[in-house]
Amino acid sequence: MMNQVPEITLNDGLTLPVIGLGTYKLKGSMGVNAITSAINLGYRLIDSAYNYENEGTVGEAVRRSSVPRQDLLITSKLPGRYQSYELAITAIQESLYRAHLDYYDLYLIHWPNPKQDKYVEAWQALIDAKKWGFIRSIGVCNFLPEHLERLEKETGVKPSINQIELHPFFNQGQQRKYHQEHHIITESWSPLGRANAVLENETIKQIANRHQKTVSQIILRWHYQLGAISIPKSASPERQLENLSIFDFSLDESEMKMINGLTRPDGRLQNQDPAIYEEF
Ligand SMILES: NC(=O)c1ccc[n+]([C@@H]2O[C@H](COP(=O)([O-])OP(=O)(O)OC[C@H]3O[C@@H](n4cnc5c(N)ncnc54)[C@H](OP(=O)(O)O)[C@@H]3O)[C@@H](O)[C@H]2O)c1
Repeated sequence: MMNQVPEITLNDGLTLPVIGLGTYKLKGSMGVNAITSAINLGYRLIDSAYNYENEGTVGEAVRRSSVPRQDLLITSKLPGRYQSYELAITAIQESLYRAHLDYYDLYLIHWPNPKQDKYVEAWQALIDAKKWGFIRSIGVCNFLPEHLERLEKETGVKPSINQIELHPFFNQGQQRKYHQEHHIITESWSPLGRANAVLENETIKQIANRHQKTVSQIILRWHYQLGAISIPKSASPERQLENLSIFDFSLDESEMKMINGLTRPDGRLQNQDPAIYEEF
């Protein structure tokens, strides 16, 4: 079955579908089956990371699926411990070897780790890896405006994407506005709040009833109407299909406002503030 998913063009010309598959915790043969199922249902954008230890799983699913490699958009991410230039170049190559892929479509710096202060060096490595054909588009995750500004000032190259925590309880209004003004696409991680209390929220349930959709579909539609790419993770083919089926209805302005009103300053899932939190 094929599902038509709208696309967004990044500032470097690469085009991505507005929904991709998250793969955190999808590993081994169960992971391969889940990712292959998603591709067969119409997912083309797949998220992964060196630190998820599932680049091999993703590569295997790519080879087992019926979709040609050039029609898929595969993402991985550079871990904090490899942010020096030399280590980053090696890690990118290692990422490719693990997946048995010749190139990644998108490669992101996983966290800025500002105390370590190496992310500009890492960015230079991504810029060069793109020149050498290892990567088609380069971006970051969890970068605050001050980190994004340094990249552009010190290298002249800005990211195509910033993948950030974004769900109804933490909607990142200011960060999204910054992205919009600087032509950086927002990609939402944990778009369903990792299936926490947000899926039981009464306001969203009411909207879901009105549209005869599920709460997850309302939330993913909200991401789409915010202009963000979302990457919901699901191991279940039923829920993968549910999460793709959001293009036959729309939320009106008042419904968008109601969902926007659910955000709270302490709404992050695990208090991972990129100004302080570090991941290696
Ligand atoms: N850059 C970063 O720092 C960063 C951080 C975190 C995550 N990520 C990426 O973002 C992806 C998505 O985030 P996430 O995995 O944290 O959380 P998420 O996608 O918000 O939620 C995943 C959870 O929701 C459940 N689920 C999915 N669809 C559902 C539906 N329609 N109805 C009910 N439950 C549903 C899944 O269970 P089932 O599998 O059983 O369906 C799973 O427990 C990750 O997988 C990863 O690729 C990036």
